This record gives sequence, structure tokens and C-alpha cells, in this order.
Amino acid sequence: MKTIDELLADGVSGKRVFVRADLNVPLADGTITDDGRIRAVLPTIKALADAGAKVVVASHLGRPKGAPDPAFSLLPAAERLGELLGAPVAFAQDTVGPAAHDAVDGLQPGQVAVIENLRFNPGETAKDDSERGEFADRLAALADVYVGDGFGAVHRKHASVYDLPARLPHYAGYLIATEVGVLKKLTEDVKRPYVVALGGAKVSDKLAVIDQLLGKADRLLIGGGMAYTFLKAKGYEVGISLLQEDQIPAVTEYLERAEKQGVELVLPVDVVVSREFPDLKTKAPTENTVVDADKIPADQEGLDIGPKTRELYASKLVDAATVFWNGPMGVFEHPDYAEGTKAVAQALVESDGFSVVGGGDSAAAVRTLGFDENAFGHISTGGGASLEYLEGKTLPGLAALED
Ligand code: 3PG
Repeated sequence: MKTIDELLADGVSGKRVFVRADLNVPLADGTITDDGRIRAVLPTIKALADAGAKVVVASHLGRPKGAPDPAFSLLPAAERLGELLGAPVAFAQDTVGPAAHDAVDGLQPGQVAVIENLRFNPGETAKDDSERGEFADRLAALADVYVGDGFGAVHRKHASVYDLPARLPHYAGYLIATEVGVLKKLTEDVKRPYVVALGGAKVSDKLAVIDQLLGKADRLLIGGGMAYTFLKAKGYEVGISLLQEDQIPAVTEYLERAEKQGVELVLPVDVVVSREFPDLKTKAPTENTVVDADKIPADQEGLDIGPKTRELYASKLVDAATVFWNGPMGVFEHPDYAEGTKAVAQALVESDGFSVVGGGDSAAAVRTLGFDENAFGHISTGGGASLEYLEGKTLPGLAALED
């Protein structure tokens, strides 16, 4: 994989460089609530601009249905990028149409333009190779060189991620190079004990990675909504907690395999329960109690791991040499159910081991809960992408940068 340093060494002054970033940031009423992904791609954009490139930044945002939709406009991300760069950033209101060409033609060396959400064009996500290829051809007309730096999207076989690099000289940006370097530390020659904390809502999203980790990790700590399917598989009643009944056979098999292979698979011993899901907008105080994990009342749902579990998980993390954490332990967006996620984040901060926070919600959680990002070994920008890497899959956006 050639990196941006090679491109810079060859000289990029005056060249149009297409940077495929992942500016898919969370928005609330048009305001960015976590700009981590924009900050993460700044080193690449700055280096290119400083070297005199004409930088064309492109990304998806959300999942629009292949047509323009103002709710998914990249404009707020482009504005934030301009603030962070401390320089004006041109914004094109289309992806490959006249506005994009005008914006790119108007760039002077060292200037930056952002084109509108790539997913406003159906070709970006098309399953059909030729449809994606046609869109990639039109994107290629905007640039002389491609830099892949949207790590969060490298698991997607999309036109701008997979097909476009085949049409232009291509390089990996600093973010992709860093992310891949970190994930290699988790897959090759991992320092032990290797402890993985997995949370989040759906166990079905995590089955493939659990399958892989049972052969690699020393301990697996389970929290979040997915824990209730494990508790049910152990024969506990889980009330009205999140449950994926159809996954119980798979989870049961994992519990058995973990025991056979000597992997400690640790489940919550107590949980915070309530009759109602909390209001995440008003964050109004809720009625809740702590119960043992095998005593969840029939009319209540588990929304966080309890205090005994927080202590237990912290004790399982304290001596870890390597930690990977993906997915919150509870509904951290509400203060009544944030303590479990905070406890895991705190344990990672205190641990001397190398800790990796895997993207998406867990990365947003550490920032919104006020943790210092520098206290973690690495905070990945890719949730799905880092999980699929750990699953051992070939990621299209990385494969495309290889040759
Ligand atoms: C993410 O948020 O994980 C990435 O930006 C990819 O988004 P996607 O899941 O909509 O493809």
C-alpha cells in the first residue's frame, strides 16, 4: 500500500487530489454533536494543501436513498472542516455535476473543496458493478490522484471507496495508515492478556467478531443490549429487555466454546432496570433500580450494567496488556444509564495496557462523557470497519489501495 508520504515526495503542487474521507458525523437538528471524524482526517488534508495540491474532499453522510436529501447534506461538515483548517472551504451542491466541476476548476493550489454527499447518487452504493463504475468514471474526471482516508467506510464496496482508486494513481492517507497499523497490533503478535469488551444493542452485529475473538482473546466482557440475549441463553429471565431470540442457539454455542477453549466470557452479574426506556431528548430523571442479573422483573428492562458488574469488569481490565472495546455498556446517552460505559472507559484510562476504542458509538461515548482522548491508546473512527477487520475479512477499501 503506497502512502501519502510517497505522493508528497513525488510532488503534488497544482494537482487535483481526491480525498475520500469519512465525514459521517452525528448531527442533531443540523448541528454536529461529535466532530471526531473531521478532526481525524485533518492531517491528510493539511499536508496536501500545504504541498500545493488542489484538494477535493468527498464523503457520505447517513444513508440517503440515492437522491439529494437536505437532511443528509454535507454542508455542516464542510463548514466545520473550514473552521478546523482555519481556511475557506468551497462547497459544491452536487457530486459530479456542474457545481462540483465549477468548485474544482475554481481551486487554486493549496485550496480545499468539499463535494456534496456521495450517496445522493445511486451509483455510489449500487450492487451492480457497471453502475458503480459509471459513477466512479464521473468522479475520476474531478481529479488526477486518489487518496483513501475514509477508514470508517473501507468495509463498503462503494464506488468512491472501491472503484475509483482503480481509475487513478492511489495512496493511503495518514488516518488509514494509522488505523491499519493499530488493528495489526490486535491481530498479529498481540500482547497478553488480551481483553475485549463488547457492548451495543444487537448481538447479531457482533456474532462474526465473537467467533474470531474466541480463538484470540483471553477474556470477553459482554455488556449493552446484546448482554440480555446471553443472559437468556444461560436460562435467566430478562423481562422486557432487548432480546434477539433467534440468536440464542448461536450465543449458547459461543458460551460452550468459550468454556472449552479456556476463554473467560464474562456476563453482567447485576443490571440497572426500569419500566420504561428513558427520554434521550429531555434526559428527564427516570425511576430505576439495580437487580441481580438473574432477577430481572418481568415488566422491566435492563438499561445498564450494575455497580457489581462495573467493578468486576474493571478488575478484568486492570492487568490487560491489550484491550479492544466496541459498543457502550448501556444507554449512555441518558445520565441514569451512563455509569457502566463510564466505568469501562475509566478502566481503560487507568490501565497501562494498549487500549483501542473501536469506532461509532463507543468513540462518541468517550468524547461526550468528557474523557480525554489522549488517555486511550487509539480511538478508531471506524465501528463496522474495525469489527470487520478483526473478523479477518478483506475490506474492499483497503484491498483497492493495495495494488
Ligand atoms: C460508519 O458510520 O460506520 C461509517 O461512516 C459507514 O457508514 P455506513 O454504515 O452507513 O456505511
